[in-house]
Amino acid sequence: MKLSGKVAIVTGGSRGIGKATAILFTQHGADVVITSKNKTNLENAVKEIKNAVAIAGDIRKKTDVENVVKNTLEHFGKIDILVNNAGIFPKVKPLHEISEEEWNEVIDVNLTGQFRFTKAVIPHLMKTSGCIVNVSSDAGLKSFENFEADAYTASKGAFVLLTKAWAIEYAKYKIRVNCVCPGIVETDMTQPYLENEFDRSMAVAEHPIGRIGMPEDVAKAILYLVSEDSSWITGAILPVDGGVITK
Ligand SMILES: NC(=O)c1ccc[n+]([C@@H]2O[C@H](COP(=O)([O-])OP(=O)(O)OC[C@H]3O[C@@H](n4cnc5c(N)ncnc54)[C@H](OP(=O)(O)O)[C@@H]3O)[C@@H](O)[C@H]2O)c1
Repeated sequence: MKLSGKVAIVTGGSRGIGKATAILFTQHGADVVITSKNKTNLENAVKEIKNAVAIAGDIRKKTDVENVVKNTLEHFGKIDILVNNAGIFPKVKPLHEISEEEWNEVIDVNLTGQFRFTKAVIPHLMKTSGCIVNVSSDAGLKSFENFEADAYTASKGAFVLLTKAWAIEYAKYKIRVNCVCPGIVETDMTQPYLENEFDRSMAVAEHPIGRIGMPEDVAKAILYLVSEDSSWITGAILPVDGGVITK
């Protein structure tokens, strides 16, 4: 039980990596708020997670984000952990074919959305000496051939450096800020790219360890980074990717 007495918010907690993280946190004794935009997805998820509360909110809306934080405090009285996980993946196309609307949509969710949540939660983490884990991507660490998702790359690259900036900025409040960078993980986000055997085998081949990731692989790394086991770690960028980034 690594998180007894802790209160965590997991954004994008309705599905994939966020849901696996919320489940693992509750198994380790935390009270967890899962939040995401789609109420049906959220209600379905919360049925599967003991000791979790679902609070819907669109990360693109400041008032929704503030409402999630307010409701969390009403339920649990404090916040110890924020997992900035919500994200979207754009339609893949070359940079010169992306519209400004498509670009802005990805940045609004994957980058400005993380700013909104972090800004709203930081004052409460100052009271608990809490911690933040940001979910970036291998795409934030290096460029990949044929990976035409530029706004996504921009958002995830920025998130890596913001992790380091926030770690330094808030160390004086004993708030730790770390980041995980997953490789390809089996979720709704990657499902369109893993549908046929050829695509799946190509994806597997990218990973030296010989398989793509499961949401639980990332959840376990996040658990480590929010637990006391990592109490001397801040500003760390941890690839969780079966070795992709080492190639
Ligand atoms: N899967 C991978 O291979 C992989 C690799 C590297 C990094 N990542 C990153 O890991 C994170 C989780 O990815 P995943 O694969 O678990 O994705 P996923 O299964 O598609 O889940 C995405 C989550 O984000 C939420 N979300 C999307 N837009 C939102 C908005 N406007 N407001 C609030 N919540 C919103 C979704 O909520 P709804 O249910 O309401 O839509 C859902 O809970 C993302 O940041 C992603 O970029 C994933």
